[in-house]
Amino acid sequence: MDAREIAKEIYYVGVNDRVTELFEALWPLPYGVSYNSYIVRGSDKTALIDTVKIDEVRQFLDNVKGVEQKALIDYLVINHMEPDHSGSIPEVLANFPEIKIIGNRQTVGMVKGFCGVHDDARFIVVNDGDTVDLGGRRLKFYLTPMVHWPETMMTYVEDEKLLFSGDAFGTFGALDGNVIDCEMDISTYIEEMYRYYSNIVGKYGRFVSNALAKLKGTDIRTICPTHGPVWRDHINEVIEITRRLAAYESEPGVVIVYGSMYGNTAEAANALASELAALGVRKIILHNASHSSMSRIISDAFRYEAIVVGGATYSMRLFPKIEEFLIAMETREIKNKVFAAFGSYTWAPGVTVNKISEYAERMKLPLDASFSFKQKLDADSRNALREFARQIVNAIEVRETQSKANA
Ligand code: FEO
Repeated sequence: MDAREIAKEIYYVGVNDRVTELFEALWPLPYGVSYNSYIVRGSDKTALIDTVKIDEVRQFLDNVKGVEQKALIDYLVINHMEPDHSGSIPEVLANFPEIKIIGNRQTVGMVKGFCGVHDDARFIVVNDGDTVDLGGRRLKFYLTPMVHWPETMMTYVEDEKLLFSGDAFGTFGALDGNVIDCEMDISTYIEEMYRYYSNIVGKYGRFVSNALAKLKGTDIRTICPTHGPVWRDHINEVIEITRRLAAYESEPGVVIVYGSMYGNTAEAANALASELAALGVRKIILHNASHSSMSRIISDAFRYEAIVVGGATYSMRLFPKIEEFLIAMETREIKNKVFAAFGSYTWAPGVTVNKISEYAERMKLPLDASFSFKQKLDADSRNALREFARQIVNAIEVRETQSKANA
């Protein structure tokens, strides 16, 4: 993808990756991903904002040199050191030997560790609220730790009211020609934003909320994240999505995640979905944990207000895919949900529901309902399942009533 000007003397020089299958070697990339980098020119100095994953360095350097054929780049601003953005730092330093690195104290330690740069004279260390003058325009730095690493910060171009936001407001999906939201259909990027946030940043909601509070009152007309489109027309929407996810606020809907070896637990999951539908639940998402990607399951669990987990009992333990999902929830500290469990067994009654119940207690995510059945649904267990569905819907109604009262 070619470099292009996105605001006065501000250029997009990022790259697309349609080769990597798993982001962080974990999360599927069905639409690819972009690693965004930008150049900001003042009348005296020029700054490069972040770099890209090393795999795409050739295209990246072509883009940078396409903008800066003659001029030197004076500063490399590092908002985030995860290697999808910092991997090309050594190449940038080799191509622009005079360049100074702008980062905070945490950044410096990481540049030394990841890139082997030990000359302190190369660094300009900034603190929260510091500015750097490029001539006719200033960059202002906001330290936003844990969005998504300890060193993460954001860089604001005061005259353009433009924010380089790092991973915040980022999303999966390569950029197919257009760069700015107003030029493209953003629906896939918005959907992928939920998966990106929940998979990558999800654990750090408190810190994301802190960052949003810090930015409150700053006039932002353009957001330039490290992944996905530049936001201009949809700034309020992406800030609101991020705010809600960071606060663990949910949308109406029930996510049923089940593990089934021979179809009997799957039958119960499907029957539960039918009962919920009959009770008026409109948004129901069923995930077979052995089939759906964990990435998608986590995203839906993060997004919707009720999670129902069920599994066949497996050698006196939780079904392994269900255990994996519960660990993923724990890693992201998913909370403020209606939470229910069901399990099937052949000779070990109660194992699945008991283990999920212990997990719920540890996670301070109390179980609102539970249901067990032996081997295969029969008339009695079908009645019990119907009651289980009612309890879930009741818990949702109580939660929604409380949310309204607290609003
Ligand atoms: Fe896109 Fe946290 O790196």
